[in-house]
Amino acid sequence: YGWVSQLRRGLLKIGVPKVFLEPLFGRDSDDGFLDIPQATGSIRALSGEPFFIPLYELFLSYGGLFRLTFGPKVISSFLIVSDPSIAKHILRDNARAYSKGILAEILEFVMGTGLIPAEEQVWRVRRRAIVPALHQKYVAAMIGLFGEATDRLCQKLDAAASDGEDVEMESLFSRMTLDVIGKAVFNYDFDSLSNDTGIVEAVYTVLREAEDRSVSPIPFWDIPIWKDISPKQRKVSAALKLINDTLDDLIAICKRMVDQEELQFHEEYVNEKDPSILHFLLASGDDVSSKQLRDDLMTMLIAGHETSAAVLTWTFYLLTKEPGVLSKLQDEVDSVLGDRFPTVDDMKKLKYTSRVISESLRLYPQPPVLIRRSLENDILGKFPIKRGEDIFISVWNLHHCPNHWVDAEAFNPERWPLDGPNPNEINQNFSYLPFGGGQRKCIGDMFASFETIVAVAMLVRRFNFQMALGAPPVGMTTGATIHTTEGIKMTITRRTRPPIIPTLETKTVVVDGDRTLSSSA
Ligand code: HEM
Repeated sequence: YGWVSQLRRGLLKIGVPKVFLEPLFGRDSDDGFLDIPQATGSIRALSGEPFFIPLYELFLSYGGLFRLTFGPKVISSFLIVSDPSIAKHILRDNARAYSKGILAEILEFVMGTGLIPAEEQVWRVRRRAIVPALHQKYVAAMIGLFGEATDRLCQKLDAAASDGEDVEMESLFSRMTLDVIGKAVFNYDFDSLSNDTGIVEAVYTVLREAEDRSVSPIPFWDIPIWKDISPKQRKVSAALKLINDTLDDLIAICKRMVDQEELQFHEEYVNEKDPSILHFLLASGDDVSSKQLRDDLMTMLIAGHETSAAVLTWTFYLLTKEPGVLSKLQDEVDSVLGDRFPTVDDMKKLKYTSRVISESLRLYPQPPVLIRRSLENDILGKFPIKRGEDIFISVWNLHHCPNHWVDAEAFNPERWPLDGPNPNEINQNFSYLPFGGGQRKCIGDMFASFETIVAVAMLVRRFNFQMALGAPPVGMTTGATIHTTEGIKMTITRRTRPPIIPTLETKTVVVDGDRTLSSSA
């Protein structure tokens, strides 16, 4: 009776509920499908910690796919995926059957239909327009920008080292990456490492709101009157207006530049004075509404800001715990860079630096979960699912799985051999997803890798980092990325070892003599 069971399977696949099939075919002993394990006792477990930690505990008990239900099933029921082959199926092989679901709903107020939340139709057009802007020559041009921003941070740290003051690194990294992304995406200098202007405050107001909304159980912000009377919501609206007005101004300025320039547009087009993504888009004749353009710029601002900041924060935290890794890193940087600014050629040579960052992204993936909603019925492994399921792919669980990783909790960059490939989702078969995978994979992966390599290399070359005496314990909390609960307070000391001057032929970069000397003093 193979055909009977095949018919039953087919009906299940197209979404006919089991309750209707049971009277016709009997119970489902031979359909090969199982019921998805249901996690219980989860509500209590989910309070008080960043939500991905109890999800990890539940993964150890329930396996690579389980259902988590809060209250009545119709209100909120999530599927938690921690199995690499199911993750691959959702993100890559059957990606068109999944949308961004709750994530798009939560982020709508700030990203509109920008690339991260966009539905398939808009996404396809916008991805095709934006990805070419991040071509190799653009990313190479950004290396100088990363160096300048890190150098400004070095000057701050140098002053702190002189004054014997401890510094809170998480907020400094956040400001540094804000400065970088503002210039890189729309040629705006937030200069947030030096100033606290209204626009910087507005960006943080909006970011915090996005994070609060992503962890809030009740969408207060949707209640019509609440929006107008809640002081917090009014502040958010004012911040959004300021950012949007600023973006409109920047778009207008950029349009004027493009109109006046004589440069012919081509594939690897970069305007030297303004190499921003916005400039590329306008010069390419991108035919897009100003609202969509703003949504895309805002999306890239947010996507490329706190992610990179979080990577740097956790990398330095990990380095303070493993001084052996820090000194190996310093050896590499000394011999590759000596005392000059990094160039694009150095990115290939700073292999250990790159492995340190890959390992930091394994232990602290940013974001720790990917969110999807099924647009049609599907089969995940042995389990049929319905259209409309909300799904969390726990990258945290994939990256911490004790069956997959040797000594999964250890910070061990050596697990990635230097003569092997740069680890990514393809060569790790979706057990490692630092930048997602499939068609919605991060467009800024190379940008972010180079940004963090430059920052780590320049910082460890000049300073040693230790947790400050009496610093609060470093706990995790989460919004879109993993933050620390109370910052990371560090004691910064200048390195006493003179940097080795590299023997390789160098493109000389002029560095301010005093500052260079002080780094080796
Ligand atoms: C998407 C991580 C930096 C722009 C993603 C995704 C991940 C990710 C995991 C996939 C999200 C999903 O599938 O739901 C990171 C990390 C970064 C980083 C860890 C830094 C270390 C950047 C930068 C930019 C950027 C610098 C901009 C220049 C985007 C965009 C998407 C995205 C636009 C959406 C792509 C799409 O849906 O087509 N990122 N990202 N990211 N990222 Fe990044």
